[in-house]
Amino acid sequence: MLKASMFAVLPLFVSGAALATDLSAMEPERVVEVRQEAFKALKSSAGELRLYVLGKKDWQQQEVDSLTGQMQRASEEAFAAFLPGTLVYPTEATAAVEQEPERFKQAQANFQKQLSHLQQVVSSGDQQAAEQALGQLNRSCKSCHNGFKQP
Ligand code: HEC
Repeated sequence: MLKASMFAVLPLFVSGAALATDLSAMEPERVVEVRQEAFKALKSSAGELRLYVLGKKDWQQQEVDSLTGQMQRASEEAFAAFLPGTLVYPTEATAAVEQEPERFKQAQANFQKQLSHLQQVVSSGDQQAAEQALGQLNRSCKSCHNGFKQP
């Protein structure tokens, strides 16, 4: 139990695989909260990155690379936390997560593909391409939410 609660404070600093192991020791409700926090972190990093790609903040290569890295870790953490038996309160996930696992995996794979592309163009410093890639990524969020998250 101690391990689980310590873990909750540091979710962004561990790999998805290590996380999945520790998540399995948690109450299902806690697992839901962990993945919701991870999605919030994902949204927050994407929002911050948006300021750079729109030129509202001066492009800083180290900073934007760090943001895409955070997005990568947050998304891995969120996806790893869809453990069986965790579609419980206070989840906003739909039953389709368990009823259509292949389609759900496909939506994750599509997101990962868009995120890799975004990471690539961001690291090349191409701000205009990054704007386009971030738009594509955001569409992959919405497309998953359409079937798998309650409106
Ligand atoms: C593969 C599917 C999928 C993708 C891709 C995805 N999400 Fe989600 N998202 C979900 C599901 C399912 C939930 C509901 C989780 C829960 O409540 O158990 C969710 C929840 C959220 C939440 C609510 C968290 C809270 O406060 O409860 C936010 C914010 C969010 N996602 C943002 C994003 C953003 C931003 C992206 C893209 C950068 C994204 N998501 C990509 C499936 C996805």
